Amino acid sequence: MNLDWLNWDKEHCWHPYTQHGIDTNPLAVVSAQDATLHLADGRKLIDGISSWWSVLHGHAQGELIEALQYQTATLDHVLFAGCTHEPAASLSRQIVKMVNENTEGFEGPNLNRVFFSDNGSTAVEVALKMAYQSAVKKGEAHKNIFIALEDSYHGDTFGAMSLSDPDPFFQTFKPFLFEVVRIPPTEEALQAALEQHGPNTAAVILEPILQGAAGMNFHSADFVRATRRLCDEHNTFFIADEVATAFGRLGSLLACDFAQVRPDFLCLSKGLSGGILPLALTLTHEGIFDLFKSPSRADAFFHGHTFTANPIACNAANASLRLFKKNNVPERFTEIGKLILDNLSPELKSHPQVELRHQGAIVALALKEEDAGYLSGIGEKLRAACLAHNEVLLRPLGSVLYTFPLACVTDEEAVKIAKALSEIALSALD
Ligand SMILES: Cc1ncc(COP(=O)(O)O)c(C=O)c1O
Repeated sequence: MNLDWLNWDKEHCWHPYTQHGIDTNPLAVVSAQDATLHLADGRKLIDGISSWWSVLHGHAQGELIEALQYQTATLDHVLFAGCTHEPAASLSRQIVKMVNENTEGFEGPNLNRVFFSDNGSTAVEVALKMAYQSAVKKGEAHKNIFIALEDSYHGDTFGAMSLSDPDPFFQTFKPFLFEVVRIPPTEEALQAALEQHGPNTAAVILEPILQGAAGMNFHSADFVRATRRLCDEHNTFFIADEVATAFGRLGSLLACDFAQVRPDFLCLSKGLSGGILPLALTLTHEGIFDLFKSPSRADAFFHGHTFTANPIACNAANASLRLFKKNNVPERFTEIGKLILDNLSPELKSHPQVELRHQGAIVALALKEEDAGYLSGIGEKLRAACLAHNEVLLRPLGSVLYTFPLACVTDEEAVKIAKALSEIALSALD
């Protein structure tokens, strides 16, 4: 196999979240099928983190390939301002139906308006811009405060960085980031923040149930439900960033399901297109949409990216959502998570330095040490052990080792993932 391109990578590519002074040899991946990545050196690795939590059903799934081929040959791209197309309209209809069905007794609005963008960060930017502009349109321009969680991560663009905890990634940019009131995920903290800042607060944003990049930190469904109630009481918007948590990963379509709520703005991306093409949605309710309708063009929502609602990505999402229902993905994720949990080594499970976290398909091992955190020493050991592993691709978040598996993982592969987690974590604890 000609591998000249590996030198071209070294000469020209700048990789994301990569320290090129240390990490000089990226894994050379030549193809992927189902849960397996095929490397240039002949190794086959189970993709234990769904390629940054995106690939949902599996790599190279027939139904998705068919949808891509059909759409590429039919309508590859057209601008979405002043034009429309069937893949985007179908996707809007399908996602609105899924998000609103079986929500009897839920607190919160029906989400029936869909704004398209390209990735998780832009889904969040759209939500925060819509939330503030809605406040302005209601004559409440003074509502310029956002409340967000400690350790939150909402993306890498400036608005999303502002909403994210600056530690450990964004300290450098602090002079450019807007102020955010930051709270731990407790009802008391949110209540206190809203009592102090409520009249000036545009929105509360959170990753419901699971703060992924924080290190797979879970909080209670009660807190998410309290957030809905407190936002209503204080007349402020609730933004749910479900970029990572949606599409069954936690055992239900949305993490908000566990709290029986719907937010005012719902951010989706990653698994939306089956996790194979960049696509994002920000859903909201008709009341917000109506605020922007006017005889004046100046009142429009001035936001849009070149590839907004790209037809190929939309058609992949349409096929993915059909597969999601056909395969009962949340149920399968729950089974996979349980299998992984059950097959972790007993030594690891009872280890005093290990905190086990789990819901749905996600299994995380937080290794306790004095300098725990993203840049911790034990994190370096984990990273090295992950790179050396010959069967499963895992990538720790500092001192937290976790899996975020694909829905096509077989029982046998789930056991292999459990074995890899156990071996890697125990070797770092040695
Ligand atoms: C909760 C959450 N929001 C937003 C983002 C940003 O998404 P993207 O990397 O697609 O911009 C991420 C990415 O991991 C995320 O986990």
